[in-house]
Amino acid sequence: MSKALSGYRILDFTHVQSGPTCTQLLAWFGADVIKVERAGEGDATRGQLRDIPDADSLYFTMLNHNKRSITLDTKNPKGKQVLETLIKECDVLVENFAPGALDRMGFTWERIHELNPKMVVASVKGFGPGPYEHCKVYENVAQCAGGSASTTGFDDGPPMVTGAQIGDSGTGLHLALGILAALLQRQTSGRGQKVLAPMQDAVLNLCRVKLRDQQRLERTGVMKEYPQYPDTPFGDSVPRAGNASGGGQPGSILKCKGWETDPNAYIYFVNQGAVWDSVCKVIGKEEWLADPSFATPALRVNHMKAIFAAVEEWTKTKTKFEAMDILNKFDIPCGPILSMKEIAEEPSLRETGTIVEVDHPVRGKYLTVGNPIKLSDSPTDVTRSPLLGEHTEEVLGQLGYSEEQIADLRKEGVIS
Ligand code: COA
Repeated sequence: MSKALSGYRILDFTHVQSGPTCTQLLAWFGADVIKVERAGEGDATRGQLRDIPDADSLYFTMLNHNKRSITLDTKNPKGKQVLETLIKECDVLVENFAPGALDRMGFTWERIHELNPKMVVASVKGFGPGPYEHCKVYENVAQCAGGSASTTGFDDGPPMVTGAQIGDSGTGLHLALGILAALLQRQTSGRGQKVLAPMQDAVLNLCRVKLRDQQRLERTGVMKEYPQYPDTPFGDSVPRAGNASGGGQPGSILKCKGWETDPNAYIYFVNQGAVWDSVCKVIGKEEWLADPSFATPALRVNHMKAIFAAVEEWTKTKTKFEAMDILNKFDIPCGPILSMKEIAEEPSLRETGTIVEVDHPVRGKYLTVGNPIKLSDSPTDVTRSPLLGEHTEEVLGQLGYSEEQIADLRKEGVIS
């Protein structure tokens, strides 16, 4: 079966996490992704956070499935020639080098556009144009600069980063979307274009509701769904909201049976207005149904701490899964706090291909997150990440290089 991006060729000049997540998605949609790595060491993540000596790390393998790998010294004049050929043959170049690195290599946008006017050149950078555009950036820097850290955590604690890699993987997703849009526009314009996804901007996009709240705060001085209300005064910027819901329905994380010893015996409970009657009945607080001070969502906001405390008295008598089952019978929105161990063992995620077991010639079997985006006519088959330079000869052969030329490039250290 052909795939959504069959026939598209991606020159994958990415490393670490943000860029590779983008090109991995393109590969899962069927593009031929050729990862160009530095001769000798390759993508630095191959050797980072290793759990098995001399095997590519899980960090690398889990971000580089379904790609081909070639080694190439792109600072060597002969390596540059190979890169030029690749640019002519590919539809998209994706890179996430430090600002200016591609230019210093001699591959400015103008040069690339001259070599292949149809090429889309897609970049992740830490920041867009402005005071920080020359800075190198990693995940947590972006979380801090994009508004996530200042709005995450508890009011009485420091800013906090989140475990979800919204700076790296989040930006990779944004970049992939930009690439697809540019490829669609190319169909009518006939031209490639530059696509830029700055990590600060991508994080801010994901923190959109907090900029909403900043303006609400400036207008009204108070946000009733925040846990600060009504006891703690608000300052002049959006405070950290603990585990409060970011939307119009109040929510909180509540203890479940076993919380004293199990760090994940908790459930997220949403006090949705539409199911208030059911909530009162399930937790045995029918008297609230007749109490005028609890009659509307707007009035109940004034009692939110007491409401969550009462629901928690009930959830503490149930495991998170029992609470989930009971509450869902009444359409009460909630979700168990799942540990990574529980997620890794969840059969339904295996069945949908969201968690996949992959076999690797050096490390053996390991689990990975498969394609979370499901296309009915373009199913994803997750294949293992390439060994460093595994496809160098194959790709150079397809580009027209003879065996002798390839041997010469190897002798000169252009490829390894
Ligand atoms: N052959 C020869 N040289 C190569 C090469 C190849 N195949 N691939 C890369 N290089 C060179 C680059 O040209 C660069 O050289 P220069 O500094 O002389 O110009 C050098 O390798 C290092 O690249 P750089 O991107 O600066 O790597 P780094 O390890 O110092 O920095 C980051 C890593 C992630 C901080 C940086 O790349 C960055 O800020 N990227 C943009 C933001 C980003 O994606 N961050 C998230 C990472 S998950």
